[in-house]
Amino acid sequence: MKTIVIANQKGGSGKSTLTVHLAAAAEAAGDGPVVITDTDPQGTAGDWFNQRKKAGLATPRYAPLALSELATKLKALDAAGAAYLFIDTAPSVGAVNAELFAAADLILVPLNPTPADLRALVKGLPLIKKSATPFSFVLARVRPNLRNNDGTAMALDALGLVLPTRMHERVIYAETFAHGKTAVDIDPSGVAATELASLWQSVKHRLNENEKMVILESEKAA
Ligand SMILES: Nc1ncnc2c1ncn2[C@@H]1O[C@H](COP(=O)(O)OP(=O)(O)OP(=O)(O)O)[C@@H](O)[C@H]1O
Ligand SMILES: [Mg+2]
Repeated sequence: MKTIVIANQKGGSGKSTLTVHLAAAAEAAGDGPVVITDTDPQGTAGDWFNQRKKAGLATPRYAPLALSELATKLKALDAAGAAYLFIDTAPSVGAVNAELFAAADLILVPLNPTPADLRALVKGLPLIKKSATPFSFVLARVRPNLRNNDGTAMALDALGLVLPTRMHERVIYAETFAHGKTAVDIDPSGVAATELASLWQSVKHRLNENEKMVILESEKAA
């Protein structure tokens, strides 16, 4: 099982929206079983799942997670056959997220391409880097044709990896927490579902790259 933590200490950067949509895109690509969990006391992803159940949709699955049982829970989900675990997090920096970062295979940082969001990143990035877990930025809530977009992408490239697919500002994403459905369920061949499918492929590619690096390093050490 691969564990993907979605984090950015900036509130409202699109963590929960990215979590549920990417998880749905992974299921739609046939890469399930996918499980979502949530360490945010706001419980956005958990609420979303309850809405989803009421709408008659059973995947991706949801599993509650207490940080005190992180290691055993990851083992249990892996043993139960989960392929990917997505962990949504609270908008905070600190010891809680440090533990999650260390346990993850990849950290995804959704970032709105605005100068204010870039400045806020300065506080959160050191903890992510300290974990030594691979991370990637996802440009999120992108409004087309803003000059900020390419400038932010270039600045982020200097800090680490930016995934090539951007998640745009779309009404279909904004509505998901009202009814528990994602753009993937509502309009599977629409522009949002298409950008999500592409984003999921680039996340998988990033995970595979990391795996190859680990194998190379362990061969070097042997
Ligand atoms: N790509 C998008 N297009 C349109 N609306 C979006 C998009 N991403 C997020 N939103 C909206 O922005 C708000 C904040 O998004 P979300 O809850 O995903 O952020 P968050 O980082 O999880 O917030 P918090 O830090 O409070 O947990 C929500 O109302 C959501 O519907
Ligand atoms: Mg959230």
